[in-house]
Amino acid sequence: MRILVTGGAGFIGSAVVRQYLEETPHTVINMDKLTYAANLAALPGAADHDRYHFEKVDICDAREVARVFAQHQPDAVMHLAAESHVDRSIDGPGAFIQTNVVGSQVLLSAALAYWKTLHGEAQAAFRFHHVSTDEVFGSLGAEGLFTETTSYDPRSPYSASKAASDHLVRAWAETYGLPVVLSNCSNNYGPYQFPEKLIPLMILKAQAGEFLPVYGKGDNVRDWLYVEDHARGLRLVLERGRLGESYNIGGRNERTNLDIVHLICDMLDDRAPLNKGARRSLIQFVTDRPGHDFRYAIDASKIERELGWAAKDTFDSGLAKTVQWYLDRPDWGQPDGSGGSDASGYRGERLGVL
Ligand SMILES: NC(=O)c1ccc[n+]([C@@H]2O[C@H](COP(=O)([O-])OP(=O)(O)OC[C@H]3O[C@@H](n4cnc5c(N)ncnc54)[C@H](O)[C@@H]3O)[C@@H](O)[C@H]2O)c1
Repeated sequence: MRILVTGGAGFIGSAVVRQYLEETPHTVINMDKLTYAANLAALPGAADHDRYHFEKVDICDAREVARVFAQHQPDAVMHLAAESHVDRSIDGPGAFIQTNVVGSQVLLSAALAYWKTLHGEAQAAFRFHHVSTDEVFGSLGAEGLFTETTSYDPRSPYSASKAASDHLVRAWAETYGLPVVLSNCSNNYGPYQFPEKLIPLMILKAQAGEFLPVYGKGDNVRDWLYVEDHARGLRLVLERGRLGESYNIGGRNERTNLDIVHLICDMLDDRAPLNKGARRSLIQFVTDRPGHDFRYAIDASKIERELGWAAKDTFDSGLAKTVQWYLDRPDWGQPDGSGGSDASGYRGERLGVL
């Protein structure tokens, strides 16, 4: 297959592209604008690979997106390109509406126009896979799980923009007949993540012996999934998911934010102890995120039952690999750009406070 991946230079997209090149015979066309969150260093060796093509294109640019479809003739689209950080959506929602809503509409329209030019088997086999988040379902109390039929109740500018794009994808299927599949996943972690998100931020700060800012009381709960497990799930949904269906993907690994920071401190103390003592003493509770959703938890039984997917990593095994990866890559996320992820000049500062 020739698969057009949008956002393939981001955290999850790059894991998908690496798997396609290493584990399948498929050809990948990576269409990415290269925002601050992108990093081509997450695709080692891809540039010279004969089954990899890179297109530096903004998904909001209708003319360029149409050119990419015409030139590369994909058999499927996996759409990951997005603004993805909740805190940034609080500071500047405009970019989230532009890329996640307008950009998704531009991409859907280009995919539809291209799909109509296909015939027979090629048209029947074409898939548009939209990659989304469990945050569209809102916030849970102490009990319960999100299923594929849970009502949408997004509460941050980020989740509202992703909910909008999910609705657009379904509208393009119902109204125009575009063959779509969707997936909604819980929080991902792993190598090559931009250091604004909880796990890489805490690893980098804890490694350096800096104070560790935990929002509120640290009791918010997320369901964590190792990024390579998510990438495998995405490949299954694209290739075998039933038309028009959505699949929840999650690791059955619920943890509070404070539990996670404790684990990171302990793993780093074991591997690279600090002279000044245990890292847990670096934790400081800071003002909570405005509108901070209390708990997300995913029921992943549909993808497990229908597509035979199961996470290979537990939270402990995935986090141990992740901590070791950041220890082995001291250049990653350095503000001097040596890790390649400095386009934003981000230095670990607090974002998203009103
Ligand atoms: N990270 C998570 O925990 C998580 C969980 C569930 C779902 N998701 C979804 O998965 C997708 C990927 O998330 P991620 O964490 O890899 O994000 P990321 O921020 O690491 O990467 C996003 C990528 O999209 C590209 N991009 C942004 N705007 C673009 C535009 N206008 N045109 C073309 N490319 C553009 C960026 O350059 C970057 O490479 C997103 O759609 C996100 O909503 C993420």
